[in-house]
Amino acid sequence: MGLADSGALRGKVAIITGAATGIGRASALLFARAGAQVALADLREPELALTVAEVRAAGGEATSITADLARPDDCAAVVAAAVRAFSRLDVLLNNAGVGTMVVGGTVETISLEHWDLAQDVNVRAMYLVSRAAVPHMRSAGGAIVNIASVSAFRGSVERPSHAYAASKGAVLSLTRAMAASYGRDGIRVNAICPGTIRTRLTADIVNRVEQAAKEGHGIPLGRVGEPEDIARCALFLASDDASFISGAHIVADGGAMAAST
Ligand SMILES: NC(=O)c1ccc[n+]([C@@H]2O[C@H](COP(=O)([O-])OP(=O)(O)OC[C@H]3O[C@@H](n4cnc5c(N)ncnc54)[C@H](O)[C@@H]3O)[C@@H](O)[C@H]2O)c1
Repeated sequence: MGLADSGALRGKVAIITGAATGIGRASALLFARAGAQVALADLREPELALTVAEVRAAGGEATSITADLARPDDCAAVVAAAVRAFSRLDVLLNNAGVGTMVVGGTVETISLEHWDLAQDVNVRAMYLVSRAAVPHMRSAGGAIVNIASVSAFRGSVERPSHAYAASKGAVLSLTRAMAASYGRDGIRVNAICPGTIRTRLTADIVNRVEQAAKEGHGIPLGRVGEPEDIARCALFLASDDASFISGAHIVADGGAMAAST
């Protein structure tokens, strides 16, 4: 039996940002299956509504919060809406992000506007949502899980994404700094560094990477990741099974980093 089926988040309330599609959507479904009431935030209302409907159809409890996390006021509003709906907060999954297809390029080619967008959505929103969330977690403790990337550790010759890499490196530093500050409040803060996962963010490369992996190149486990692979990792870090883990990051990339030369 997996963690979700053992009710690992029963009685808990979780905010998941970027829950309309991909990793956030998979996490919403899994966290709800694990017993959490989920407050789901995203910019894209129709897709978010589908996630909420799917959670409810499976017997879970969800509330939908339309928010543009590039806007500071919306970040605080996400937490306020979640607490209004469910009266407490135990878990925050900071997952929303913009990727290489939008904010790709080198320092020479990326526009200032796209550089700022990468930092605003991938890092600044994490700061602003966390700032609003921490006071609600302080009394009973909690878990914050930040989605970083293997791009925090390495560049790419074929698919340069300097703004994205910088934002994800900052996510790891912020994770460690927050873990140091909030441990005494019983709040654990950890990060996940996904490799190539089959989502909208990798639509331009996923087939090529998958084919290469099948032929023995790039990913030792021989496949790209699925959103559920990361959702299960997030559930573990959010659950009491990770009760002594804080300030850590888990690389979930099918072994690709370990195998890179
Ligand atoms: N897919 C991968 O290979 C991969 C690898 C490493 C890290 N990640 C990270 O995983 C996270 C989830 O991405 P995904 O792969 O599931 O892609 P995705 O595009 O399916 O999900 C990202 C979600 O964030 C939302 N979002 C984007 N900008 C927003 C904004 N301004 N306000 C509110 N919501 C916004 C999108 O609408 C979307 O639902 C991101 O932080 C991404 O950087 C993904």
